[in-house]
Amino acid sequence: MAKPKKRYVCQACGSVATRWQGQCGECQEWNSLVEDAPATVFSQKHDLSSGGRLIALEGMEETGEAPERIGTGLAEFDRALGGGLVVGSAILMGGDPGIGKSTLLLQAAANIAKSGRGAVYISGEEAPAQVRMRARRLGVADAPVRLASATNARDILTTLGQGEPPALIVIDSIQTMFSDQIEGAPGTVSQVRGCAFELIRFAKECGSALVLVGHVTKDGNIAGPRVLEHMVDVVLAFEGERSHQYRILRGLKNRFGPVDEIGVFAMGAEGLAEIANPSSLFLSGREEPVAGSAVFPAIEGTRPVLVEIQALVVRLQSGATPRRAVVGWDGGRLAMLLAVLESRCGLNFSSAEVYLNVAGGYRLADPAADLAVVAALVSALADRPLAARATWFGEVSLAGEIRPVAHTSMRLREAAKLGFDRAHGPPADEAATIKGVSYDALDLLPKLVDRIMGG
Ligand code: TYD
Ligand code: MG
Repeated sequence: MAKPKKRYVCQACGSVATRWQGQCGECQEWNSLVEDAPATVFSQKHDLSSGGRLIALEGMEETGEAPERIGTGLAEFDRALGGGLVVGSAILMGGDPGIGKSTLLLQAAANIAKSGRGAVYISGEEAPAQVRMRARRLGVADAPVRLASATNARDILTTLGQGEPPALIVIDSIQTMFSDQIEGAPGTVSQVRGCAFELIRFAKECGSALVLVGHVTKDGNIAGPRVLEHMVDVVLAFEGERSHQYRILRGLKNRFGPVDEIGVFAMGAEGLAEIANPSSLFLSGREEPVAGSAVFPAIEGTRPVLVEIQALVVRLQSGATPRRAVVGWDGGRLAMLLAVLESRCGLNFSSAEVYLNVAGGYRLADPAADLAVVAALVSALADRPLAARATWFGEVSLAGEIRPVAHTSMRLREAAKLGFDRAHGPPADEAATIKGVSYDALDLLPKLVDRIMGG
């Protein structure tokens, strides 16, 4: 029999190479290739076309059953899940260390346990005493959550297999789990994939909701190996700046409901508090307008949120390469908008440092933010504050056109509710129907620049 070939798997993107290399050929990550268990070599005669059991093929008619869901006792968490945890499903929750994943899941586990359904919390990172200490801090120490500190997937599955399967199983984190059936250290692609596969199969068979906590790589991808995202039903990202109190739980994938829904929390001394009305959370609240600040009515999932975008432009005297730094937005997109402003509007940013910040530690995903970013940049460059009660939204094309975006009326209604009586955006018929906002329809970027520069 042929000797199985060695294979090397990139821990960042999961691609396979036959030789070790310093850099992954697929995703260009450095030092990410790790030797993996060899692929099974099938014999030539291996044939799958007979000898199996027959499976039932069914029609597509509705059976009328919506998936059964369990509430987490946290409306914001349920919202991000698309209406609660689906029975027998697997959820992957990613986020930076210290952002609050363990805290959120312990709170949810406590609520579910208190409601009389079983909840098991398995930590591969902390001892039960540490988890208990956190529970005390959260004021949920009396909840009948069952804790364990374990990393061996076989032990965990054997234990879970005894008695009534719990409604919720939390595995914190999947990177710390290992299976004695698989070669390699915990955290390698084959270990993570193998353990996740077994845990997910258990959850599907027993009707438990399984939450896997996943670590995030440097570039913000959930759980390092992307393979996990394909295996689970729901992927959630827990975002925020550690130095700010606000946290956003965002649905990135959902087999049972809408994606892009967000849940908003504030981290406090007693854990995560829900923010039911986040609308004005990310506004600075100052009365006097300052140059470089623009308000953007964002839509996250089905929910409007007003966000302040701040820009700072610093002219450099020397010929040093100017810096561009972005917090809460896409750096590539900023570079593109600066290039559009230079080539379509004749503005010069090439000898200036440009800083862009989304207030409150918020991370913007809505593509309609372009116009607000441009307004903030032009205002900062010209050192002219924008009108205090104005909002800006729209997508900007490479040609310098301002393109229509979705949800115009929802954005305007929310802005009006919070006292913003002026809005600038792409031409939109619905805009005229919103009371209390005077709408300035703009089709080309130079017109916007004239508005700001002209006062
Ligand atoms: P944690 O849930 O451990 O984060 P993760 O599991 O994502 O790594 O949260 C850790 C941070 O949250 C830690 O810096 C302390 C802070 N925290 C609070 O501010 N209040 C609290 O009630 C708790 C439990 C934690
Ligand atoms: Mg943790």
